[in-house]
Amino acid sequence: MARRKLVVGNWKMHGVAANLGQVTHISIAAEVTDIDMALCLPATLIERGVRAAPGFAIGGQDVHAFPEGPHTGAISAAMLLDAGARLTIVGHSERREGQGETDADVKAKAEAALSAGLDVILCIGESDAVREAGKAVATVSAQLDASLPDKVADPARFSIAYEPIWAIGTGKIPSVHDIEEMHSALRGRLVAAYGDAGNQIRILYGGSVKAANAANIFAVDNVDGALVGGASLLAADFLPIVEAAA
Ligand code: G3P
Repeated sequence: MARRKLVVGNWKMHGVAANLGQVTHISIAAEVTDIDMALCLPATLIERGVRAAPGFAIGGQDVHAFPEGPHTGAISAAMLLDAGARLTIVGHSERREGQGETDADVKAKAEAALSAGLDVILCIGESDAVREAGKAVATVSAQLDASLPDKVADPARFSIAYEPIWAIGTGKIPSVHDIEEMHSALRGRLVAAYGDAGNQIRILYGGSVKAANAANIFAVDNVDGALVGGASLLAADFLPIVEAAA
């Protein structure tokens, strides 16, 4: 089944107004590519990012599961939409590890965001110790099963990002064989959960994606794009990755 490639930048806690020129630059390339692209910006930049890149998909990096309430520092799906965001990441390992988010929390966030009208990229991935113990596929499959929303009405609006924790920001990436094995297992879980719609959900790879390795990664079966951290901050680093996916 042909799935349109999706390449998304995650700026994490990087970027102030002075960096918005990169958003504009990246968005101009989106007008001429035949893949889907987005940038998930810090919350403080979302509204200005939308203004700097009209028509381009800007997203958040996290969302609260509740629509509103006494949750200091948190941002609801309605707030992201109000700022102009079209999508959000949920369950990034930096939040699972740093903020103690559980699979159940991630599932609730994904369901809240989807039903509010945001597209969702749901992250999963194993630690170095789990990979070394030979338990990566079983662990990440279980993480996926427990994090998935009960229903996905439109598979084009929901994506999975497989991000091995040990590959994030380290310059290390799994072998092509290991990526293929994982993505194939995840595809099986998605089909088990949603039937044929599971074949339409995109599975992105994330973790040290760069211009130099992108083409090899995108050639792997069931790799439908990438979630890119460090190499999404500058158009000069990000656009060659987009080109490799096109
Ligand atoms: O969400 C993207 C990410 O965690 C990968 O980061 O810097 O290794 O591309 P990086």
